[in-house]
Formats: sequence, structure tokens, C-alpha cells
Amino acid sequence: MRSPLPTLPKAELHIHIEGSLEPEMMIDLAQRNRITLPYESVEAVRAAYQFENLQSFLDLYYAGAQVLQTEQDFYDLTWAYLQKCAAQRVCHTEIFFDPQTHTDRGIPFEVVHGGISQALKDGKNQLGISSGLILCFLRHLSAEAAMATLEQALPYRDSIIAVGLDSSELGHPPVKFQSVFDRARAEGFLTVAHAGEEGPPDYIWQAIRLLKVARIDHGVRCVEDPALVDYLVDHQIPLTVCPLSNVKLCVFQSMADHNLKQLMDLGLCVTVNSDDPAYFGGYVEENYTAIAAALALTPKDLRQLAQNSFKASFLSSAEQQPYLDALATAL
Ligand code: HPA
Ligand code: ZN
Repeated sequence: MRSPLPTLPKAELHIHIEGSLEPEMMIDLAQRNRITLPYESVEAVRAAYQFENLQSFLDLYYAGAQVLQTEQDFYDLTWAYLQKCAAQRVCHTEIFFDPQTHTDRGIPFEVVHGGISQALKDGKNQLGISSGLILCFLRHLSAEAAMATLEQALPYRDSIIAVGLDSSELGHPPVKFQSVFDRARAEGFLTVAHAGEEGPPDYIWQAIRLLKVARIDHGVRCVEDPALVDYLVDHQIPLTVCPLSNVKLCVFQSMADHNLKQLMDLGLCVTVNSDDPAYFGGYVEENYTAIAAALALTPKDLRQLAQNSFKASFLSSAEQQPYLDALATAL
């Protein structure tokens, strides 16, 4: 039987747009912008993608992002990702961008934002893909730097739905950014945060209690704290889980060891996402396919995951309903 997956409407809620920079585009943009990369070929770039933890990935991810210079570069990056969405029936996507990765090397915020948001508008008009933009603060940098970034974003607040927290988790707990998130919520932004990928369950508690997040990005370590699991289930706080990422970054030794099915069986609102698809070996569909094969997920499980992706999104209930209706009769 052919996989029903490509025909299921899906939403993606955890994708770093800089992490969709495929090696081919990295090499092309390096040439276009006259930047010297430490790689001679696409194959050499791919061969470098062997990671032992989050930090070993982040080092290459920030280096790769240097090729992004102009508004057109950010447009091309985002447009290529949206075409993948169209091919995989991802009908709605909420994408992260890391302004500090670019502003700290002299690329103006409006260049980054302009290219990404124009592509998202074209994605809506030409591909029918709806989207939201989430500004992530780099947690290895200071709270003051995050606050300055938030202030830079205020003129664009109508096009940014939420703020998030990414980069090196260990040693940078959510509490470090409490006042930044207080201000962001006061300015009308929703909030999310990476927590419980490499960090302990306490970081998930902090994200909930101090940053008042609507979703937890990753969150797979919640199982170490039964009271936390109860809380996440009772409040149906979604987890944006990224299976291929988790295996590539050695959060789990193999896909068969992943706890996604356990999380679902506990009653958590689990979603499947790609994180950094160009670095981890696949987009949304490849993530569903890999986890389904390794954990013997049933068609019902796949439908549940797709339903969760819309329920956990920032779409209104009315906007979610047509997708939930389509999924109710799919498979
Ligand atoms: N975790 C933290 N920061 C990130 C990630 C991730 O998986 N991807 C890009 N930045
Ligand atoms: Zn992530």
C-alpha cells in the first residue's frame, strides 16, 4: 500500500528557516556573495554534518548562515522551503528566524525580515500556504541583547506572531529571559521556547511558569518528571517534536529509541516537525516516515499527529476546522 502521508494535510510548527539552507544553495550563495567557505563541494558540506550534540550542530549552522547577505538571499531561502511544503502537503507553517545571527554580522533586521516576509506573502498567494513568523532569541547571548532585538522588531509586530528561544540550551535556562518575555507579551506577542531537548524538565517548568509559553519546542525530556507530564496533559500544552533532529543530535541513540509514541500514549499533544531539515536529513514528510517506520505507528497515530499539528498551531479555530474536517475522513 502506498503511504497515505503525502495526501494528509499537515502543519509545521518547528522549523528554523536558516536550517533549511541546503548545501547546494549554501555553495551558490557563497559564490553570489563572494564568500569563502571551508568546503569545496556540496558533498564536502554534507560530509561535515556529523554531530555529537546540539552545540556541534550549532557551530556549523551559524557558520553556514554567513552566506545569507541580501534580502533576495532570505527570499530565496524561504521560497525554496515553501516549495517543499507545497510538495509535502504542508498547508500551514510557523517558521522561526534568528535575527541576531544576522544583525550581529551587520545585516540589518529589515533585510532579514523583508526577504522572509515577502516570500511568506507569495507563498500564501501563489501556493496557498498560510504561515506565521516567530522571532527567536539566541539564548547563549545576553538578555539585554534579546531585549534590543525585541525593540528592533516592534515596527514589524503585525507580521510576527510570537517570540521563541533557541540555541545552546544547557546553562541558559528560560529564567534568564523572563523580563524579555514579559515585555514581548505586553507588546502582544505569543510565546514559545525550546526546552527539554538537552536541558532538564525544570527548564520546561520555567518556560511554562515564567515565559508563559503556548507550546514547548522539543520537550522530550518531560517524561523524567511525572508531575510535569500530568501538567502538560491537563493543559494540553503541545510539544513540537523533531525526530530526525533528535537522532542526529544524539538526544536518542536511534529512531527506535525515540519516545514519541510513549508521549502520545501518555496523552500529550505531540506534533512532528523538521527543525533544521537541510542539516538533519529531511523535511516534515521524511520525519513522519522515519518515526512511523521505527515505532510502527498506525494510520490512526499518523492522523492524530496531523490533527495535533493544526490544533497546536496559532491558526484560529475557524481556520483549523477545514483541515480537521478533512483529516476526520482521511485514511
Ligand atoms: N535547538 C536549539 N537551537 C536551535 C535548534 C535546535 O534544535 N535548531 C536551530 N537552532
Ligand atoms: Zn529547533
